[in-house]
Amino acid sequence: MNAIITEINKLKKEKNAVILAHCYQNIEIDEVADYVGDSLYLSQMAAKTDAEIIVFAGVYFMAQTAKILNPKKKVLLPRLESGCLMADMINLKQLREFKLKYPGIPTVCYINSTAEVKTECDICCTSSNALKIVKSLNAPKVLFLPDTYLGKWVESQLETTEVITYPGYCPTHLRIKPQDISDAKKKYPEAKVLAHPECHKEVAILADYVGSTTGIIKYAAESPAKQFIIATEKGVVDRLKRDYPQKEFILIKDNIICPNMKWHTLDDIYNALKNEQHEINVAGDVAQKALRCIDRMLEVSK
Ligand code: 13P
Ligand code: SF4
Repeated sequence: MNAIITEINKLKKEKNAVILAHCYQNIEIDEVADYVGDSLYLSQMAAKTDAEIIVFAGVYFMAQTAKILNPKKKVLLPRLESGCLMADMINLKQLREFKLKYPGIPTVCYINSTAEVKTECDICCTSSNALKIVKSLNAPKVLFLPDTYLGKWVESQLETTEVITYPGYCPTHLRIKPQDISDAKKKYPEAKVLAHPECHKEVAILADYVGSTTGIIKYAAESPAKQFIIATEKGVVDRLKRDYPQKEFILIKDNIICPNMKWHTLDDIYNALKNEQHEINVAGDVAQKALRCIDRMLEVSK
């Protein structure tokens, strides 16, 4: 493993490349990543980088967002199979039909959406800033897509805004059932429950903290508690165990794994850099329109 890490680091220097990795990635990718974090952090880093090549160890919409923010740079996705099942639940036609049902209402799209969908939304958000973004619109009603559970969680945190959601969801997070949380709480009564807002609302209600992947990691790091039940993808638990060995982290269920996040290996990253593959491109007009919705989010998130 050391040899491939050395080779990747050499190529990174030679080619002036940066590697961004989401915290659901296989943990060995952190050894070569320049930045590891949640979707918001990674899009902020993508917006700021001076590198000529961005290798995205994440899913397709993340690489697409990085390309939209950096039209002149080369953005590489080591494995093209790494899509996001939730992002694929809404296309432009479905978005238009949804908006037609509720005319004149501002539209917020989760960053887990395609570039085409972003072209016809007012602003996008990630799981860490969704509440702030919806509040910033100062509207009595907001359309939210594709994740119905993130949208409904935002609504539960607000008193006066109705969040009308599109029926999309994350299949990985929906595997977590309220009964799993109740069972884990019985088994570990002292533990804090930390959940991602993509979980079902009946799961989120039972959690002590609901937040993005980085939010969960930060909460666990700063909390005086010693034991945590984690209701999100396994990658978060792997990193918590590595970074805070004095604390105990329990993954709510063994199968909370996003297969699409797990495609990239160190070999794929090496091949991506060496052969400059697979380049992600977004058509000029689509990129321009989608950029408005991403830039607006970055502005509100400053
Ligand atoms: P984060 O906003 O926590 O990075 O979540 C992204 C994601 O796809 C979770 O499933
Ligand atoms: Fe998409 Fe869910 Fe995987 Fe996140 S965990 S990338 S929302 S399928």
